[in-house]
Formats: sequence, structure tokens, C-alpha cells
Amino acid sequence: MRTDTGQIVHLADYRPTDFILERVDLTFELDPTATRLEARLIFHRRDGADPKAPLVLDGDELTLAELRLDQNELPAAQFDVTPDSLVIRDLPEAAPFEVTVITIINPEANGQLMGLYRTNGVYCTQCEAEGFRRITYFPDRPDVLAPYTVTIIADKATNPVLLSNGNFLGGGNYDEGRHFAAWFDPFPKPSYLFALVAGDLGIVEDTFTTMSGREVALKIYVEHGKEPRAAYAMDALKRSMRWDEERFGREYDLDIFMIVAVSDFNMGAMENKGLNVFNDKYVLADPETATDQDYANIEAIIAHEYFHNWTGNRITCRDWFQLCLKEGLTVYRDHEFSADQRSRAVKRIAEVRHLKSEQFPEDAGPLAHPVRPTTYREINNFYTTTVYEKGSEVTRMIATILGRDRFKQGMDLYFERHDGDAATVEDFVACFAEVSGRDLTQFSRWYHQAGTPMVTASAEYDAASRSFVLTLEQNVPPTPGQSVKEPMHIPLSFALILDNGSIGEPSSITGGEVTDDVLHLTERHQTFTFSGIGARPVLSLNRGFSAPINLDFRQTPADLAHIARHDSDLFARWQALTDLALPNLLQAARDARDGKEITCDPAFLAALLEVAGDGNLEPAFRAQALALPSEADIARELGGNNDPDAIHAGRQAILAHLAREGAATFEALFASMRTEGAFTPDAASAGRRALRNSALSYLSYLDGGVARAADAFASADNMTDMTQALTVLAHRFPGEAATANALGAFLKRFDDNPLVLDKWFSIQATIPGVATLARVRALMEDPHFVATNPNRVRALIGTFAFANPTGFNRKDGEGYRFLARQILAIDPRNPQLAARILTSMRSWRSLEPTRAEHARTALGEISAAASLSTDVRDIVERMIQ
Ligand code: PHE
Ligand code: ZN
Repeated sequence: MRTDTGQIVHLADYRPTDFILERVDLTFELDPTATRLEARLIFHRRDGADPKAPLVLDGDELTLAELRLDQNELPAAQFDVTPDSLVIRDLPEAAPFEVTVITIINPEANGQLMGLYRTNGVYCTQCEAEGFRRITYFPDRPDVLAPYTVTIIADKATNPVLLSNGNFLGGGNYDEGRHFAAWFDPFPKPSYLFALVAGDLGIVEDTFTTMSGREVALKIYVEHGKEPRAAYAMDALKRSMRWDEERFGREYDLDIFMIVAVSDFNMGAMENKGLNVFNDKYVLADPETATDQDYANIEAIIAHEYFHNWTGNRITCRDWFQLCLKEGLTVYRDHEFSADQRSRAVKRIAEVRHLKSEQFPEDAGPLAHPVRPTTYREINNFYTTTVYEKGSEVTRMIATILGRDRFKQGMDLYFERHDGDAATVEDFVACFAEVSGRDLTQFSRWYHQAGTPMVTASAEYDAASRSFVLTLEQNVPPTPGQSVKEPMHIPLSFALILDNGSIGEPSSITGGEVTDDVLHLTERHQTFTFSGIGARPVLSLNRGFSAPINLDFRQTPADLAHIARHDSDLFARWQALTDLALPNLLQAARDARDGKEITCDPAFLAALLEVAGDGNLEPAFRAQALALPSEADIARELGGNNDPDAIHAGRQAILAHLAREGAATFEALFASMRTEGAFTPDAASAGRRALRNSALSYLSYLDGGVARAADAFASADNMTDMTQALTVLAHRFPGEAATANALGAFLKRFDDNPLVLDKWFSIQATIPGVATLARVRALMEDPHFVATNPNRVRALIGTFAFANPTGFNRKDGEGYRFLARQILAIDPRNPQLAARILTSMRSWRSLEPTRAEHARTALGEISAAASLSTDVRDIVERMIQ
């Protein structure tokens, strides 16, 4: 492990390199424990650079074997080398020169999964963000771009497949049972997009004809025997390629596009040029083993990585502070893709749920940072939901403010102007300012100011003047390092809904800029007056979640029910139902804490059950409505002094009320939403399954719940229904024999399938209550638990910490103590994984004092450890600061 070096990197310190890298030529001789790499790098000094400046190359745990300058061995006096850097002096002032660096790498010993490593016998690389420096000494930063030639030499029998970026140049037999393959990537790229894969893999092939008529070979590599499970990924890839042509005019550029699925991977997937490497969880699917959510994730992530070919690869980032330039934008693009492939409203609801449950807590806690940060200590810790999801929301707001056509023009300009560049957020925003003539300076605060803005709204109707007055106030809360905030430019989509459910058209709106159905809130306090309104309307505000804000708008239950019934924006209807539910859930949590009886507003129950039974609404939407705000959502709304047990008890009581009140509806849905015929993963069928399983879960609160769930489990013919039934059994009836039987049967049937085993672990890790910690401990001793596999560690330990509020936040602090031990155990091998799981404690300060004190102690225990990675040190110190 590289222990903490503690250096803080500042955006303000950015300087271009002194040397320009012209070409990279790599020759790998693969060996499990002693891979030899000869890297030939051609540089010249940049015009105007200091003629005496040395060449400084990055390394990380490297061993230098040989070093040559223009093919001559370099005298020791001319360079300094450590595992972390190589500095070469007295280089030519103007002429190009060639540096040859030979390193010996041990892929087998690489548990960080950064650089060159082995997974199930396959050689694989991961270079983003700073993994290439674990392969060779290199100017490992995203603004150094060059074309790469890569030759791979390896034992032929064990590594029939030899892959790298770009187009295939050729290959053949080599010496001693070895063979070789050569690849050339003509598109200049930074080192973080380099990839190499070698091993014995199965292949699924297809082709795609681009909009200009070029045929591209498509290849997905998976473990032998798993080929049939790559069919959906291939289909999603072709749909993504077509969509990017149609929607953004982006055509694929190489002769071949490859995806490799590996089972040990720290993240979801990686967009290496022409050779995406995927966590196999986001490639492999069939009806027997994948849930509807798995299919949706695969579609989204295949699209995301493919879209990076333009937003990330053809145009990359100048430095890592600009990460949102590629990530926020690419998430926005994959969201739009999924919205076009599925139900747009349901997709938006799922996005907002995710944003609120992941990004809002990050923005409200000690790890809050701007979408475009200005300092970091460990870049790996900035692949955050703020950079990704809030970054996407910021892009979406640009589209909302400019309108669809102008936004498209801005994107066109961006692609045209910056193709081949390592660009900045300012470059990106300038394109939209230019095509629209708008000043986006204030808007850019979304990139620079952390924290979720709070918008407080109040409205009044004046019958005499036929006017409706909306008063808005905005506040951005203080966040670490940013105590004072400036007002933001907040685009608020709105509708005035009249008594009969139609949308009112005011004769004029004054008080600020209004474009189409968007109010532009730009001042701290701002009052909009809508004139020519004949009767009191109901205002639907922030429709479609046009801005990622907290909205404090005290609307009456009657008004919310009116929106829930009539808004033409389905998202707004869901939002109104959520707003109706929340006060009930908050009160229930308080009553549970105080030992009072828990009640529920009948009007809320009626509104929700009306939606549940409304055959005109798509089932997926109804399922979203029935999935009440989560315990984490309730905790966030309560805002502090939280008792997870009370929140859980209160929410359970409300669910039980709803179940009793809606018994007939749920019975009917459970019967009628069965999907007939062969399984298809399309959104409509998935929606029916979601609604039926939601009904099953409510029915579990009524008599006969165990038997019904056990039946549903036994008769399930697809993974969605099976895991949903198993979840109901485990979470609602953990002690029942039926549950133990079902868990045992599931394990027996799928014990050779790691991705399904992950589900088995996760379902048990999320059983509510104090007893689950002992179960998690026992599961760690199960022979199926593999401590070196990130998916498995996340499925058990990560899921327990992130998604089991009552089990993890035990009042005696045992959950936190357990996590601290696990973090210290994982860190030496895989710091990225350890740091990521540790962020599950990011909201510890909003716990009630007893738990908060235990959490602080556990964090203190981590920070006091003798040796910590930079990754974990950075997270733990920011959390306790
Ligand atoms: N760039 C990858 C993506 O979003 C994420 C990633 C980051 C993967 C770092 C590996 C390492 O698509
Ligand atoms: Zn990405």
C-alpha cells in the first residue's frame, strides 16, 4: 500500500507541461509476476519552455530496470529515480528525443486493481485516474495526449486474446509458445484511457453500420460459457451508437469497438478508447439471473461508456478538477438515452430519487464539495455523486435555460471547437454562452458553490386584481471551506393548475425573466406576479425537477392532491404524492420516538390508493408512487438528531396502515399484473413486475403474508420476482422457517453464479434490526464470501453500511465499530474500495447524540491507525474535521 503522502493539489497551480509528448510505443511481455514493459516515448520541449527544465515523470510503486535516451543507456548522473518519480536532466533544447523506460511489473500482486492486474486469470488494466504511473514512468496527466502503438507478447495457450486500444495492426507467432498482437490508436489520448486485456475469453460479435456507411466490428469478451448473457449488452450498445448519431450527430470513429467484462473491478466500467472494460455485473444478463434493475443498469452503463467516446475521449479534461466536464455531461447523455428508450417520466423519478438519496446527503455533510472542486488530496475520492449526478443536473439546467435547439447548437459548437482538446468547464460553458448570447456567469456558480440551494416559496391569489403572486427566497447553505454563498441562477419550471385541472395561461408575468414554462430565479428575494388569472390556481413548481434544490413550499394537502391528480407533468404528480406522504412519515417517526400511537392522514391514503388503482397510469409510475420515501429520505427531511429505529418503526406503521386500507387494491394488482408468456426485459413488462411486487410487499402486512411471499418465491420464473419475494421474506419474516428455506434454496440453485450470490448477500445485509450485524459477521465466514472481490465486499459490507439504517446504526455503536475494523482490513489491499465504503458514514453528524458519539469514536479509531492509504486518510479526516 502507498501510505499517505498528504500533498494537496490546487486548481490554481495548473501549468502546462514543459515537454510535448509526440508518440508512445509500448511493448509488453506479459508474465503473471514479472511483466516487462518497454516504453518508448518521443518528446520535444514546448515552445517557450525553460530550456534547462528537466523532464519529470510520474511513477507509483515502480521498479526501473533500464533507461535509455535516444537508444543509449543514460548515465546515472543524468537522472534521479524513486518508485514515485523519474527526473531526467540535460535534455535537448529543441530537438525531439526518445526516452526508453523499461519497468518490471507484478500484476498478480496488484490488489488495488489500479494499473496492470489479474482477475480470474485475465490480464487487465485500469488507468483512470492515475493508474498508468503504476505501469511505467510517464507524464500521467490528462492534458498530455499522444497516439499509442502497443505490442503485446504473451503465452499463446493461456492468452489467446490480446487486446489494446485502437485498430488491430497485426499479429503472429513469437518464440517459445508465445504470440503477439499489435494495436495502433491514431486518436491522441491521455494515459488514463490506455487499456490492455489478455487472456482466454469467449467472444460475442456483431457489426454496426455508422451514419456515413462505415462498418464497425463490435466485440464483447466474457468468460467462456457466459456468451449468451452478453446479448442484451450488445443490443444496448447498438442502440446507443444509433442514438448518439441521431440525437447528437456523433459517429463512432475506429474500425472496432470492444467491451471486456471482468469480475474484479473497483467501479462500474471504464471508457478506454475503443476498449471499454466493464465490471461484469453491468454486462451479463439473462432472465434467470438478472433483475429488471440489472437490465436497466446495463443499458445505462453501456450507453454511458460508449458516449464517453466523444464526451471524455475525443474531448478530454485538462486536469482532474474538470472531471465533471466528462462525467456530468456523459451522465446527462445516458439519462437522456434511457429516457428515450423507456418512460421519460418514470426515468426522471428514478433519477431524482437517486439524486436525493445519494447526492443531497453528500452535499449536506462533511464531504460536500463543488461540482468543479478547487483542491483535492486524493483524486480517487472525487468520483462522487456530486461530480456525476449533480454535474448531470447542471448540464440539464443549461438545456432548460437555453431550450432544446440552442442547447443542441451549443453542443455542436463544443464538439467542433474542442475536438482533440483537453478542455475545461469554462470552455464548455462558453459554447452555450456564445450560441445563446446569454451571460452564464451567475449560472456557473452551480459549478463552484457546493451545497443544495434551499428555495422558500409562498404564494397568494388576489381575486380583485385577478393576480397570483409568488414570493421566492433562495439560500445556499454553508459547506466545508465555503461559508458565504452568492445567489444562484435557478430555473424553475412551473404550471398554474386551475380548478378543472387545466393549465392556466397568465396574460403576463412580471418580476423576473420567464422563458416558456420556466421562471428564472436569480435574486436572493424575488417576487413574480402572474396576471389575468380568473380564479385561485394551484401552483406546481419545479416541475420535472428542473433545478436540483430543496423546495420549502407549504402547500395544503388539498393543493398537493390537486397536483397529484391533474398536473400534465407526471413527475410533478409523483412529487406531489411524495410531498403528501412526507409529513405523515415525519410525524410517524416522532410519534414512534415518543411512544405515541401512529396515525395517518386518510386523504393521503386515499390519494395514493387512487393512483395505485388507476389503470390509465403506467404500472411503473404507480409502483414509484407506492414506494414511499425511504428511511434515508425521512432522515434527510428531519435534518438532525435522528433516531433510525424511530424512523423505521414510524414508516413501518404507515406501510401497515396503507396495506390495510388498500388490501383490496393490492390483491387485485397482485393478481392482474402478472406478466404472461416468455420473459422480456422491456420497460412495460418491468413496470408490471414492479407494481405486482409492490403489491406483494404491502400484502405482507396482512394475514397470510408469509405464505403468500413463500408462494411467490416458489412460483417465480424470473430473477426480479424471485429476489423481490425473497426480500419480503427476509426483511419482514427473518425468523420464519419459510425464509430460511427460501434463502437455502436460492443459494443452492445459484451458488455457481457470483452475480446472483451478491444478491443473496445483499438481501440478508439489509434485514432491518439489531440482529443483522451478527448475520453479516457470519456471512463473512461463509465459504462463498470472497474478501478480494470488490462486488462481493460491496454486496455484503457496503450494502450493510449504506442501506441498512437500523442494522448499521445500532444504538450501542457496534455497527460503526464493525465498519471501522473492516475499513482497516480492506485498506492495505484496496484503498479505493475501503475509502468508498467509508463514505457510508458521511451523515453521522445528523444522528442523535448517543449514536453520533459512537460514530465519532469509530472514525477516530480509523484515523488513529498507524498506516492508512491517502484515500482513507482523506475521507476520514474530512469527516471528523
Ligand atoms: N470513468 C469511469 C466512468 O464513469 C469511472 C471510473 C473512474 C472507472 C475511475 C474506473 C476508475 O465511466
Ligand atoms: Zn463516466
